[in-house]
Amino acid sequence: MRVSLQDWAVEALDRMDEQARDYVAEPAMDGRTLADNEAAFARRRVRPHVLAGDADPDTSRTVLGRNWVHPVFVAPTARHGLLHADGEVATARGARRADATMTVSTSSSRPLGDVASAAGPWWFQLYLPREHRHREPLVAAAVEAGAEALVLTADLATRGRREAALRRGRTGFPTAAAAVNLAALTGLEVDQVDEVGHVGPVGPDDVAWLAGYGLPVVVKGILRGDDARRAVDAGAAAVQVSNHGGRQLDGAIASLDALEDVVAAVGAEVPVLLDGGIRRGVDVLVALALGATAVGVGRPVLWGLAVDGADGVAAVLDLLVDELDHVMRLAGVPDLSGIGRDLVVP
Ligand code: FNR
Ligand code: LAC
Repeated sequence: MRVSLQDWAVEALDRMDEQARDYVAEPAMDGRTLADNEAAFARRRVRPHVLAGDADPDTSRTVLGRNWVHPVFVAPTARHGLLHADGEVATARGARRADATMTVSTSSSRPLGDVASAAGPWWFQLYLPREHRHREPLVAAAVEAGAEALVLTADLATRGRREAALRRGRTGFPTAAAAVNLAALTGLEVDQVDEVGHVGPVGPDDVAWLAGYGLPVVVKGILRGDDARRAVDAGAAAVQVSNHGGRQLDGAIASLDALEDVVAAVGAEVPVLLDGGIRRGVDVLVALALGATAVGVGRPVLWGLAVDGADGVAAVLDLLVDELDHVMRLAGVPDLSGIGRDLVVP
């Protein structure tokens, strides 16, 4: 029986081959940040209301102009072909069934058109190719395929050291997990394309350039209020607090611990999204109490995908939203606007 996301994790990791397990589960270096992402949630405590009525909780919220049934979305993760034969197409189908907006990675392993056809509302995550002539086709393809927002990942100036893969001397991915979109648009061989070689650091000018396409730009990988300020000043329509799931700078602050500084800097102007360490409905509630507009999940979606394809993705997302409904009832909050800072200590 799978009754918690942790149950899905155990089964998924058991089913994956060694490369998939390393890729999904391995943090950078010692995994301090990965562990802290979850620990930061575990440290918080809720001050529930009682005598608060018996209304069914309303989990809906408007995000970047769209009415969401619940505040959970799919964070971008690369190379779903490592986990399931249908790759991102299965993920898109599952996310749509669970009413969750999916962020499609630049390094997805199925053609963008196929993923877009299977998806409900979706955003496109961008790694900007170092070579400027490759940037425009990548963004244009996402816009053309129907992305509703462009998510610029800012924390991959260079790739984090994931030591299990290094130790095994592994380079590259199997064909089923190739970054086919990046390859097609850059004209590189699929087995040559990886994020390290072809993606560079980004700056405020890149945010401004992207905003010129007319879609909302989300800057992902923000851990400080001053950086959030610069992102918004450059034209970002939202920021995403994230440390890349502990895969980049090991020792970086937990996402949840970074949230309030970012909310203080830009929360009055733009939505503040958060990902990293969300494993329970109560984690969603805590993130929203500290000022997040919505939360992204990375690994849990991959666990669902590995165990049961689209059905697994939908089941994992439904479970998290069902837990949110459950904790809202127990905490006596009728809707998301009732989840204020006073609900959580410290
Ligand atoms: C990621 N993440 C990521 N982020 C991004 O912007 N582009 C990408 O292609 C990827 N790829 C990727 C692959 C895998 C296997 C993982 C686990 C993560 C980071 C992701 O969007 C998110 O920040 C974290 O996964 C959130 O943490 P949790 O939910 O996994 O704890
Ligand atoms: C990763 C890159 C692709 O985390 O975002 O593996």
